[in-house]
Amino acid sequence: MKKSLCFLFSLLLSLPLIADEGMWLPSLISQRIQDMQAKGFKLDANDIYSINQASLKDAVVLFGRGCTGELISDEGLLLTNHHCGYGQIQYHSSVEHDYLKDGFWAMTRDEELPNPGLSVSFLDRMEDVTNQVLVGTNSSMNDILRDSIIRSNSKRLIRQATAEGNGLRATVEAMYYGNQYFLFVYREFRDVRLVGAPPSSIGKFGGDTDNWMWPRHTGDFSIFRIYADANNNPAEYAADNVPYQPKRHFKISLKGVKEGDFTFVYGFPGSTREYIHSSEVHYIAEVSNPHKIKLRTLRLDIQKRYMDADQAVRIQYSSKNAGVANAWKKWQGEMKGIRKMNTISNKKVYEKRFQLWARGTRYAPIVNKLDSLYQILEPYSFATDYYNETVRTVELIRFAQTCQNTLNQHPEDLANQIEAFYKDYYLPIDKDCFVAIMNEYHQSVPDNFKPEYYQALYKKHGSIEAWAEHLFSQSVFIDRERTAALTPQWDLSSDPALEMGIAFQTWYNEEILPVTRRIQGEIRDLYSSYMRGQMEYEPLKAFYPDANLTLRVAYGKIQGYSPSDGVYFQPVSTVDGIMEKDNPNIFDYNIPQRLRDIYATKDYGRWAENGRVPVCFIADNHTSGGNSGSPVINAEGHLIGLNFDRVWEGTMSDIVFDPEVCRNISLDIRYVLFIIDKVADADHLLEEMDFVE
Ligand code: ARG
Ligand code: ASP
Repeated sequence: MKKSLCFLFSLLLSLPLIADEGMWLPSLISQRIQDMQAKGFKLDANDIYSINQASLKDAVVLFGRGCTGELISDEGLLLTNHHCGYGQIQYHSSVEHDYLKDGFWAMTRDEELPNPGLSVSFLDRMEDVTNQVLVGTNSSMNDILRDSIIRSNSKRLIRQATAEGNGLRATVEAMYYGNQYFLFVYREFRDVRLVGAPPSSIGKFGGDTDNWMWPRHTGDFSIFRIYADANNNPAEYAADNVPYQPKRHFKISLKGVKEGDFTFVYGFPGSTREYIHSSEVHYIAEVSNPHKIKLRTLRLDIQKRYMDADQAVRIQYSSKNAGVANAWKKWQGEMKGIRKMNTISNKKVYEKRFQLWARGTRYAPIVNKLDSLYQILEPYSFATDYYNETVRTVELIRFAQTCQNTLNQHPEDLANQIEAFYKDYYLPIDKDCFVAIMNEYHQSVPDNFKPEYYQALYKKHGSIEAWAEHLFSQSVFIDRERTAALTPQWDLSSDPALEMGIAFQTWYNEEILPVTRRIQGEIRDLYSSYMRGQMEYEPLKAFYPDANLTLRVAYGKIQGYSPSDGVYFQPVSTVDGIMEKDNPNIFDYNIPQRLRDIYATKDYGRWAENGRVPVCFIADNHTSGGNSGSPVINAEGHLIGLNFDRVWEGTMSDIVFDPEVCRNISLDIRYVLFIIDKVADADHLLEEMDFVE
C-alpha cells in the first residue's frame, strides 16, 4: 500500500514536460516528432535528420569554435551572427578600412575575404556508440582504468570514422554524464570567406546596453561563403577554390511571424547543467558569479575609459571588450534568475524526495556524497575562478607565455604572433586592469590559496601599484622590436611577465588542479549514477542530455513574456523601435544616416509588413551559448529568422528553465534581407536565395 502510494506520488511529480523546455538529439527526434507536430510542425523526423537523404541538418553548420550558421543558397552562402563573425570583421579592419564601423560588402566574388583559422563543420552523421565505447569496462573497475579504456575505445572509433580523409573530423561525446555515448562525424571546410557585414551601428545596435535584453533591435548578422575544391570537397584556402554546393540549403519564408507560431531552432548549444546538485547551483549563483562580475566590472570600466578617448583603441579593444562584457552581463541575469526561481531550495526539496525514494537502493548515498564533495571543492573552485579572471586575463603575461612556447616549438611562427598581438594591444589598459584586479585578488583570495611567488613579490614591491610599475616597464614583451629579436637561445626566465605567468601556472598545476581533477572526477561518477537515478525516479519525464556543442533541436512558439509584475513584453519588434532609440550622441544608438533616410521615405521594398519592417522576435525555444547564428525554422521547414540571444530574465536557462520567462531572441529574416537590399545595395546576393511568399 505504502509503496504504491509512493509510486503514485512520484508519478504526479513527474508529469512529462509540457513546456517547450529541452534540446533534443536530431537522430532521436522521432521520439519527439509527435509533440512537434501537435504543436504545428508539418514535416517528419526524416526531414530534420537523415543519413539516406538530404535533410535540414545538411544546411546547418558549426561555425568556428562556438557558433552556428546556415546555408541560404546553393552556392555556399552562409548566414550567421555579426557577433559570430566579429573577430573576422575586425581582423580585416584598420583605421583606413574600418569594416566594424562602416560595414563590408563584397560586390563581386573576387572581393570576398579569406579568413585564416576559420572553419565550418557539417554533421555527416551521428551514431549511438555506447556499447563500443564501454567494451572492456566493468562496474568494479577503478575510475582511472575505466576512463583510459573509454578514451582508447573512443580514439579507435574516431580513427575508423575519419579514415576516408576528405575533411572528415569526428568526436565521441558523452551524454547524461557517460550513460550514453555518441559518435559525431563532421565534414570540415576551411576556406570560408567574408561576404558581408552591416556596420556595427546595425549589427551591434544597442551594444552592451541592449545585449541580453528585450525589446531588441540589433541587426546581428553577417554573411560568409564556403569554398571547396573542384570536386566540391573541403580544401585549404586556394584562390581557385569554388563556391561549395551544399546538399541542402534553406528556403526563406517571407510570410512573417506572429504570436503562437511554431518555431524550431537547429544549432549547436555549448553547455548546460540542468541536473546538478543544489550545492553547485549555490556556488554558481552566490559565490562564483558575484566575484567574477566584480572583477569584470573593474576591467570593463577601464577599457571603456580608454576606448571612449581614442578611436584606434576602440577598434583594438572592441572584440575583447564585447567578450568580457557578454559573460559579465549574462552572469548577472543568471544569478538573479536562480534567486527569483528559488532554484537552490527547490533543488533541496527535490533532493530530499529523491533520497526518500532512493532509500535502500544504490542511489541512496548520492545526494549527501555530492554535497560533501562540493564542500571540499569550493575553495579550489574559488581559487581557480580568481586565477582565470585575474592573472590569466593579463595580456602581457599571456603573450609572454605564448612567445616562450613558440620559441621552443615553432620559432618560425613568432613573427605572426607578434603581428597579431601588437595590432590590438594597448599597454595602459592592460596595466590599469592589472592594478585593479590584482588588488581585488589580494583582498578576496585567502592567503593559503595564493602561490608563494605571489606573497614574495607582493612583499618585495610593497604594493600592487609598484609591482605593476616594474612589470610593465621591465618585461621585454612590452617592446615589439625587442620581442621580435628574441631567439630560442635567449634566457627569458627572469622576465617579470614570463616569470609571473609560469609561477602561477605551476602553482595552479601543482596545488589546485590535482585536487579539482580528483574531486571533479568523483563528482562526475556520482552524477553518472545520479542521472540514472533521476531517470528511474521520474520514469515518465522526458529527459534531454545537457548541451555539449553537439547539434540539437529546440522547438516551441513565438511568445511574449512578463519580466515583472505589471509589465508585459510583446514578442515582435520593428524599425519603429530603432528610430525611437536612435540617438546620434550615444555610440550604441547612433544609426547610419541611410537608415534614417529610408525610414523617412518608407522605402521598404518587399520586406515590410503593415508598413513597418519587423526586426526581432522572441520565442520559448530552449537555447544556449553556441546557438548564436542558428536558423529559426517555421512549421514548413523554412527559414524565418536567425537566433542570437536570450532575454536577461531567462539566462538561468543553462541551469534551470522557466517557461514563463525563458525566451530566445531572433532576428527576423526580413530585416536581414532589408538591410542587404536597401542599406547595403548588395541585392545581387538576394538572387542566389530561394524565397517562399
Ligand atoms: N548575448 C549574445 C551571446 O551571448 C550576444 C553577444 C554579442 N553582443 C555584445 N554586445 N557583446 O552571444
Ligand atoms: N548569444 C549567445 C551565443 O553567442 C546565445 C545565447 O547565449 O543565447 O551563442
